[in-house]
Amino acid sequence: MLIERLSSGTKVIDDFLNGGIERGVITNFYGPPGSGKTNLSLLFTLSSLKNGDVAYIDTENGFSTERFFQIGGKKEDLKKILYENPTNFKEQIKTIQKLRNLNVKLIVVDSIVSLYRLEINKENFTEINRDLAKQLAALSFIAKDKKIPVVITNQVYSVNSDEIELSGRDIVKYWSKCLVELKKIEDNRRLAILRKHRSLPEGRKVEFEITNSGIEKAKFRIF
Ligand SMILES: Nc1ncnc2c1ncn2[C@@H]1O[C@H](COP(=O)(O)OP(=O)(O)OP(=O)(O)O)[C@@H](O)[C@H]1O
Ligand SMILES: [Mg+2]
Repeated sequence: MLIERLSSGTKVIDDFLNGGIERGVITNFYGPPGSGKTNLSLLFTLSSLKNGDVAYIDTENGFSTERFFQIGGKKEDLKKILYENPTNFKEQIKTIQKLRNLNVKLIVVDSIVSLYRLEINKENFTEINRDLAKQLAALSFIAKDKKIPVVITNQVYSVNSDEIELSGRDIVKYWSKCLVELKKIEDNRRLAILRKHRSLPEGRKVEFEITNSGIEKAKFRIF
């Protein structure tokens, strides 16, 4: 089977993922604030605009047009981004339900769990987890049906001093066929670790830097 991938437009991430993210499945970039989740979402958006429209679901006002222009986006590109900004989990459900009828070449949900995290409590626990699973099942179905990549991003929380867990836990892990953990090492230096993939070795790592024009391979440093 030929596995088609969408390039990130940057060599360091494409080398890391053997060409980019896979069409037909959900790829999940997860990590703490500032680790690069939105930057990667924007890079894949820009790259995919060559093929057609992109649905960008922004649940935390992370989409910055200034940053989009810095990485090479043009004003006319913005017209091809179907931007949605749900402000509660119910709206997010509706937004995801509408995606089935759109003709898009990429779906981004940045992030899948921020509204979920805001609303989850002891009373609604079972119901809200069921709703999250339904959304991921819908995204997974659309990815397969339309043969397009879906990018989701995911916040994390600390389990102990050196262990983190994804918000949404097993539900998001199950539905994401590719899991990439992002870590902030220092200033603009980041580490990406492949945690799950259908055809690449788990544990593969790469260091990158967030720069003014996008993402680059981390420079070798002696000190
Ligand atoms: N022009 C730039 N040059 C260098 N670094 C930049 C530039 N623009 C943004 N950054 C860095 O990118 C980081 C933010 O990355 P990003 O928004 O992708 O993180 P995130 O994982 O989405 O975080 P959050 O969970 O808060 O949404 C910040 O550390 C910021 O300093
Ligand atoms: Mg972000």
